[in-house]
Amino acid sequence: MKLTILFGGASFEHEISIVSAITLKQKLSNFDLSFIFCDQDHTFYLIEAAKMKAVTFSKGEYKKMPKLLIANGGFVQKGIFSSTMHNATVLNLIHGADGEDGTIAALLDFFSIKYIGPRIDASVFSYDKRYTKWLCKARGVKSVAHEELNIKEHKNINIEYPIIVKPARLGSSIGVSIVKEESELDYALDSAFEFDGNVIVEPFLEGVKEYNLAGFMANEEIHFSIIEEPQKEMFLDFEKKYMDFSRSEQVLQAEISKELESKLKDNFEKIYKDLFEGALIRCDFFVVEGEVYLNEINPIPGSMANYLFDNFENSLAMLLSSLPNVKKAKIGY
Ligand code: DAL
Ligand code: MG
Repeated sequence: MKLTILFGGASFEHEISIVSAITLKQKLSNFDLSFIFCDQDHTFYLIEAAKMKAVTFSKGEYKKMPKLLIANGGFVQKGIFSSTMHNATVLNLIHGADGEDGTIAALLDFFSIKYIGPRIDASVFSYDKRYTKWLCKARGVKSVAHEELNIKEHKNINIEYPIIVKPARLGSSIGVSIVKEESELDYALDSAFEFDGNVIVEPFLEGVKEYNLAGFMANEEIHFSIIEEPQKEMFLDFEKKYMDFSRSEQVLQAEISKELESKLKDNFEKIYKDLFEGALIRCDFFVVEGEVYLNEINPIPGSMANYLFDNFENSLAMLLSSLPNVKKAKIGY
């Protein structure tokens, strides 16, 4: 099965995407993979499989490799038409801004390229945490109470401490802080506003349990991963979460009741249905006193959450074989 992995991107999650792509190369040995790297200047490069190593990117060696353009139906080499890239099915593995926010989905749709990944609307609802709250409301899924702050206005926060401060549109815990008392607030807000002019504030829930569940739709049913209970630290920071290639050995499978398991799956399904087809997503949930709250949707999870699937390669093959049709522009769509 042929698949072109599109990774890198211009966002703060650029390096995480490189880690994700290298991990998938290791996990998908039965696929015929090609790799397209998007550098931070938005230039696309075709990367040989043998060069899929961190050093290729840290040393800028990719700059010697063929530059690509996107054209109708696929990726073409500058000047020369490259048949291998024509009609490629792409796996969008660009995390964060310009990748996970709908930008790449729009580009692929525009050129009628088939892809694994969230469509434009699904990306918008999951990338901005404020819109995720709207989606939850519309779908009857609980989410934690929150307040929205904008860099241009000063507003008092009416949530009891400790609180958690997050940029509205970033992933991977970047710019996120836990604030125990008011004196720490300005610093936390400055850090979050550095990444986004919009910030959300939520209560930091004591005694909260966290569960992560991934899944995808194939043959009209949702296929779920195992449920992970992430490690017990206050929260995983950037390094712990992503720069660790051996994370798969550390997965803690949640020991939960059948009742909670089906509640989590039911909430996942409410979010996924009619919006996320074509994507493998990971929903991160909070559970407090038996109540399930959606914390966030990761429509392009780190390393595609491969470590949560018993047979990731099979899962991806299933998803690939039941992708939605390429969207054609239609008036009134
Ligand atoms: N945003 C990253 C990649 C994740 O949460 O999985
Ligand atoms: Mg995340």
